[in-house]
Amino acid sequence: MDFKDLYQKSINKPEEFWKEISDDIFWYKKPTKILNKKNPPFYKWFEDGVTNSCYNALDIHIDEGRGDKTALIYDSPITGNKAKFSFKQLKDKVSKFAGALSNQGVKKGDRVIIYMPMVPEAVVAMLACGRIGAIHSVVFGGFASNELASRIDDSKAKVLVTASCGFEPGRTVEYRPLVDGALKLAKHKVEKVIFFQRQGQEIKLNAPLEISWEESLSNAKDTDCVEMDSNEFAYILYTSGTTGVPKGIVRDIGGHIVALKWTMKNIYNIDTDDVWWSASDIGWIVGHSYIVYAPLFKGCTTVLFEGKPVGTPDAGVFWRVISEYKIKSLFTAPTAFRAIKKEDPEGKFFSKYDLSSFESLFLAGERADPDTIKWAENLLKVPVIDHWWQTETSWAISSNCTGIEMQKTKYGSACKAVPGYDVKIIKPDQSLAKFNEMGDIVVKLPLPPGTFPTLWNADKRYEQNYMSNYKGYYQTYDAGHIDDDGYIWIMSRTDDIINVAGHRLSTGQIEEVLSEHQSVAECAVIGIKDQLKGQLPIGLIALKAGVTKDNDTISKECIQMVRDKVGPVAAFKIAIVVKRLPKTRSGKVLRGTIRKIADQEEYKMPATIDDPAILTEITEDLKKSNILKK
Ligand code: COA
Ligand code: AMP
Repeated sequence: MDFKDLYQKSINKPEEFWKEISDDIFWYKKPTKILNKKNPPFYKWFEDGVTNSCYNALDIHIDEGRGDKTALIYDSPITGNKAKFSFKQLKDKVSKFAGALSNQGVKKGDRVIIYMPMVPEAVVAMLACGRIGAIHSVVFGGFASNELASRIDDSKAKVLVTASCGFEPGRTVEYRPLVDGALKLAKHKVEKVIFFQRQGQEIKLNAPLEISWEESLSNAKDTDCVEMDSNEFAYILYTSGTTGVPKGIVRDIGGHIVALKWTMKNIYNIDTDDVWWSASDIGWIVGHSYIVYAPLFKGCTTVLFEGKPVGTPDAGVFWRVISEYKIKSLFTAPTAFRAIKKEDPEGKFFSKYDLSSFESLFLAGERADPDTIKWAENLLKVPVIDHWWQTETSWAISSNCTGIEMQKTKYGSACKAVPGYDVKIIKPDQSLAKFNEMGDIVVKLPLPPGTFPTLWNADKRYEQNYMSNYKGYYQTYDAGHIDDDGYIWIMSRTDDIINVAGHRLSTGQIEEVLSEHQSVAECAVIGIKDQLKGQLPIGLIALKAGVTKDNDTISKECIQMVRDKVGPVAAFKIAIVVKRLPKTRSGKVLRGTIRKIADQEEYKMPATIDDPAILTEITEDLKKSNILKK
């Protein structure tokens, strides 16, 4: 079937479409009820199906005779370590660690937080949770104690699995102070902390709360997969919301396996014999879906890379990895390619490697700028594909589905809606937009399998936040348009989310931290354009009357506070003290206008502005801080 027909079938007959696809995964009990639509917007896919995500990631491939095939390649230019694990070897590790978790009292439905660097043990921990029906919640290593604590509290995790350290270029990330800080801040008390001791970086552990990974394995038995109802949860992944309180995106089990396995061939054109690489971090959705789950469900080989696109050791490392493991396709964020382009604009490193295995590059996480796409196309001579998705959906909403039918590239567009997603543009008056008209991008309900069925312990927030503004639709909080060929153009977020090096951050969350500074009366954080990271947060802070501390000190303290409370990943390095913030007469800070000034875009003087002179002051302040050309 060609793309158009397949897409139409997915929209017109979603149950028939997904039922056929669901036959491709392992079920202990095949579902007979494909979609329960009785309680919108809470839809249930495959509700009477019984399965297990770890079985589908590992055991099934051994059953089918592929046990000796490589499942996971670990490549760590940052430590110099490399390793390969077959499906059998990975299963042995996972089933042992599942036993270790069981020994610590972890049962079906319990939450386990995984706060780890990019080591194979992190993947083992994720899959081990799935094996025994525990719900994992991976927390990105670049988040600070505060963020870890809020996730411990919200998930009420029983066990925390962590490591002695991570490595960033030029510095060791000690997890001990971060974990101690989080445990102190969290109201909920975890029952056990399992530390993976990295070679040469072992730390002293405090019994009885803490135990090493090795110790936890010492009396652990191999443990089999448990049978899970399709609608039980596989994991919670917290993501930035419109307020500082992170949202726990949950993933149900059956739909997740069905959809993700399908995407590997249909979107990425990957078969079981292929080697696939997603250069992200397991702390993000791209890492969950495309380092761990989708490739393992498919039974192909996946690469876990502990390094950076540049500096580990050089801008040729991506080419080295692709040629060494004969990778067919790579998925990463555009920022990684901008980093390579900046270091090696002529692609000198590229010519040193044989990339004959390489067939396509997929980019997502932020808008892929046409310059970067064209640069990559010129260098790699393969299709470079921008596709659009979100933590909420766990797989692409729009893409060039290369395994179904290759579409032509339109630079700046994330291609067409993927089968399963009925994407529309809605205008503020709630009417549907015509072709090429801008508006809010929404997806008609029900969403396809694998997308979030709710938020962790927050059904109301799910309904109010995502499903209420446009009845019958999921609001993506992205704005853009669809052209007459059906291509989707993602232009901006409609909430306070910014995208920094492909990392999703909430400016509201950073503002909450800045407001805690005792000299700060009010503040505004905006994302300004950045050539490398796409966007960078900057803070404008107005001080309380009578503050005598000098502005420089206050700025530095604010920057440090964000690093300590959100984490280094916020990349918050600019805090400018201003006299006043521009506001509407009703007191709303004009963040959009400030952003336009900072990005040197044209702006209209807002009709509701309280005092237009403040915009001139802000322009001067931005000039003094070198954000604007003088
Ligand atoms: N643990 C601890 N700290 C981390 C971290 C982790 N896992 N990941 C990043 N950080 C730190 C960095 O060390 C840096 O700290 P610094 O302020 O002390 O330098 C800070 O967080 C910002 O990191 P980052 O935004 O990654 O910037 P960078 O300058 O280190 O690297 C890129 C820039 C483009 C090379 C990098 O962002 C990259 O490789 N991006 C690839 C895309 C990607 O993985 N996207 C994820 C979603 S697809
Ligand atoms: P995350 O949940 O971290 O994956 O971030 C999701 C957000 O990243 C989306 O809502 C978009 O704003 C942005 N995004 C992801 N992919 C793209 C893309 N291909 N083009 C434009 N924006 C994107």
